[in-house]
Amino acid sequence: MDAAVPRRVAPMAMPLTVRSDWRQALPVLTGSMVTLRELRPSDAPSLLAMLSSAEVARFISPPPTTIEGFERFIVWTQRERAAGNYACFAVVADGMDTAIGIFQVRQLEPGFGTAEWGFAIGSAFWGTGVFMDAAKLVVDFAFGAIGTHRLEARAAILNGRGNGALRKLGATQEGILRKSFLRNGEYLDQALWTILDEDWKSQRVVWGAQIN
Ligand SMILES: CC(C)(COP(=O)(O)OP(=O)(O)OC[C@H]1O[C@@H](n2cnc3c(N)ncnc32)[C@H](O)[C@@H]1OP(=O)(O)O)[C@@H](O)C(=O)NCCC(=O)NCCS
Repeated sequence: MDAAVPRRVAPMAMPLTVRSDWRQALPVLTGSMVTLRELRPSDAPSLLAMLSSAEVARFISPPPTTIEGFERFIVWTQRERAAGNYACFAVVADGMDTAIGIFQVRQLEPGFGTAEWGFAIGSAFWGTGVFMDAAKLVVDFAFGAIGTHRLEARAAILNGRGNGALRKLGATQEGILRKSFLRNGEYLDQALWTILDEDWKSQRVVWGAQIN
């Protein structure tokens, strides 16, 4: 600890590993199939096309229904990022210029020690490997750049692809949150999936060995 900082001034819940640079602007993260970057206003039309279809929106909070709505959402994501509460990455497939999906991470406690993430990708890209490629980048970012130690995700039990994707990624299902998500006037049960930073690091070693 810096001797110049009196011990009693350091906030107990604030991890010292949190870095502030992502709050200025999100980094560009490069995978083998996708690039992740900050959302831009010009992503609004493609996000509307990709995320407002019935199959994508079925088990997530209702996305905006107009280009203007997505433009307002994009402005909001940048404001929340600057405030250090939240990060939202655009998923850009190789050979494309606009977003085909988003990955969001928000803090569940001050300092981001526990965070929640969520994701949605246009259905034309389901089953292509884009999810896994992007998800690994985002989880690395949460545990590395942000300093999260516990990453939570909630998936409606009926959401086969959402649960399957989290299981495949190595997340642990901790329990069922009964009637925790209101969608189309009906309360749905959700599974709570978590990844801890230490589990992720050991799993990453295995993946690294497989890839190399
Ligand atoms: C969630 C999402 C990003 C995952 O991307 P994806 O490309 O569909 O995911 P993947 O195909 O890589 O992985 C899904 C896995 O679930 C499996 N799966 C599909 N339907 C399933 C079902 N009904 N039950 C169990 N597993 C199922 C798939 O077979 C696949 O596993 P595999 O690769 O071992 O075969 C994408 O489906 C999406 O955007 N869905 C709409 C938004 C959403 O629901 N977001 C998640 C909120 S938690």
